[in-house]
Amino acid sequence: MSGMSQLLVEDRLFQAPKAFSKKAAISSMKQYKAMCQAFENDFDGTWARLAKETLYWKKPFKTVLDESEAPFYKWFSEGTTNASYNCTDRIIKAGLGEKTAIIFESDAGDVTRISYQELHERVCKFANGLRALGVGKGDRVVLYMAMSIEGVVAMQACARIGATHSVVFGGFSAKSLEERIVDVGATTVITADEQMRGGKQLPLKAIVDEALELGAKSIVKNVIVYKRTGSETVPFTPGRDHWMHDVSAKQSKKCEPEWVEAEHPLFVLYTSGSTGKPKGVVHATGGYLLWANLTMQWTFDLRQNDVFWCTADIGWITGHSYIAYGPLSVGGTQIVFEGLPTYPNAGRFWDMIERHKVSIFYTAPTAIRSLIKASDLNPDTHPKNYKLKSLRLLGSVGEPINPEAWMWYHKNVGGEKCPIVDTFWQTETGGHMITPLPGATPLVPGSCTLPLPGIMAAIVDETGQDMPNGQGGILVVKKPWPSMIRNIWNDPERFKKSYFPADLGGNLYLAGDGAIRNAKTAYFTITGRIDDVLNVSGHRMGTMEIESCLVAHSDVAEAAVVGRPDDLTGEAIVAYVVLKGARPEGEAAQKKALELRNWVNKEIGPIAKPKEIRFGDNLPKTRSGKIMRRLLRVLAKGEDITQDTSTLENPGILEQLKHAV
Ligand code: PRX
Repeated sequence: MSGMSQLLVEDRLFQAPKAFSKKAAISSMKQYKAMCQAFENDFDGTWARLAKETLYWKKPFKTVLDESEAPFYKWFSEGTTNASYNCTDRIIKAGLGEKTAIIFESDAGDVTRISYQELHERVCKFANGLRALGVGKGDRVVLYMAMSIEGVVAMQACARIGATHSVVFGGFSAKSLEERIVDVGATTVITADEQMRGGKQLPLKAIVDEALELGAKSIVKNVIVYKRTGSETVPFTPGRDHWMHDVSAKQSKKCEPEWVEAEHPLFVLYTSGSTGKPKGVVHATGGYLLWANLTMQWTFDLRQNDVFWCTADIGWITGHSYIAYGPLSVGGTQIVFEGLPTYPNAGRFWDMIERHKVSIFYTAPTAIRSLIKASDLNPDTHPKNYKLKSLRLLGSVGEPINPEAWMWYHKNVGGEKCPIVDTFWQTETGGHMITPLPGATPLVPGSCTLPLPGIMAAIVDETGQDMPNGQGGILVVKKPWPSMIRNIWNDPERFKKSYFPADLGGNLYLAGDGAIRNAKTAYFTITGRIDDVLNVSGHRMGTMEIESCLVAHSDVAEAAVVGRPDDLTGEAIVAYVVLKGARPEGEAAQKKALELRNWVNKEIGPIAKPKEIRFGDNLPKTRSGKIMRRLLRVLAKGEDITQDTSTLENPGILEQLKHAV
């Protein structure tokens, strides 16, 4: 990342604005430290108190943290609860039934509001409909939907009946969808006829049908379709396929929740690892919801008159924790947005903030960087043209935010009065881990600052020994926390190996990121993944996944994929390919590169598409046949190789791989 060198010497400090601190839930570093101390003094007792104060438990828990089968930790074991009850019934009982839960804005700009009472009704009716189709506790339901109220209703309805949902991002291909449906063993798929993005109608149901044909049809009994565009050409198989509105139509508005154990899997969400196929990250009901709720209060300081907007998609963890569950569990009002930040123009976000009086805005650095670029090209879309006074807090998520983008966001969007919470976390962590508290923590651009109370983050070396501040190392978490990943679906061995590796002692959670703490402030800065996981526009991709996809093409003999820093997308994918036939050159190479990029697009999805493809007669390998990825990374950056290449079997190959086709 271009800002990285500056990032490490960044010393600008932004104190929490007094006006903000005065009303904040956590209003000083003294209070923050006292909260951390409470966990130091009585870890279990503090979590127990928070869990009792925060959630409704049908049956109280006795054990707080059960470590008997570590690293398969259990939280609040004997307790029973229900996520949907906590996100609707409990809010209505608190007198907020008429409050707006969701303000939905469509791609075209149509706005629909729905109160907690209405949301509750729709969740209950659909939950009853799912039950009528035979879906119940422990069944897995895959969602393949775009941003919509129906998407949130579907997730909440699954939670209500104890079905475990697995949302697959609507940009994934039929093959990716099929793999996830089969791995998680879903009996039901919920989708929409089509989705609207940037004025275009894009298929969803047709892709589900394709996924079923690829193999998933042997296990899927029901496909439920939300009618979004009403397109006539959408395939429909009577008997198996049902319209979502028909499923809900004759159902009662009352639906007794399934009271599930705290450890009952609320959802499985697939994410990329460094090796093998995507991992189904399992999250448990009680602990996950507790942390989604607490981080809404602590990190976002949510107050009852706030309008909260998280721009993520429900297909990612950010959309789970900070759209589908967190904001509803605190009775907040939130925006759900179907469209794109650049449609009809790059002022869309700012226009929506103005019209809906958004007070808390949470987005990804990639979006900010692309809107900076767009407003340079078309000054009409610059935030200064919009009234953004309603904003009081900004957030960033998914990838490192470079100080330049941070400063622009702070000045032009936040009017220099809004704190920015740079939230570091992962699919596996369920919620924020290291982040400023907006009313307390002095901010440093590019640093996610300090761990939240209760999160024992640390930096260690390869053997698990603590590193002193000022020296980089491996980011770990030393103690379990309630919203942590519980398992990898169908693969407990991989869970242990990936997250609690033996060389670190077997009891430290390995995040997979490198980090450094500032020698003076002890603030954390994330320095990037230490494994073969790429982060492109805040989306996680495994290099192995893309490589396997490329070699599955009939013309490809071998492939190696690396990341390269990119000013806009954080990282960009560069693929080195050896074809079975001769190495193509000139126009033939360009044609082949295009074909392979489209292949990856079709097989995995647009987010995995390499930005660049380079062809060689071979790949740089050691004499033992290991591909030297380190060298490929240097070449991808366009830098000269200064390392010793004498151990290479075929040093001549480097010259071929220097340039893009
Ligand atoms: O490398 C870190 C980066 O995103 C990874 C997690 O990706 P995912 O599971 O898709 O979750 C993204 C949304 C929480 C991390 O391992 N990452 C996430 N947030 C930050 C970050 N890197 C730097 N700063 C952040 N704030």
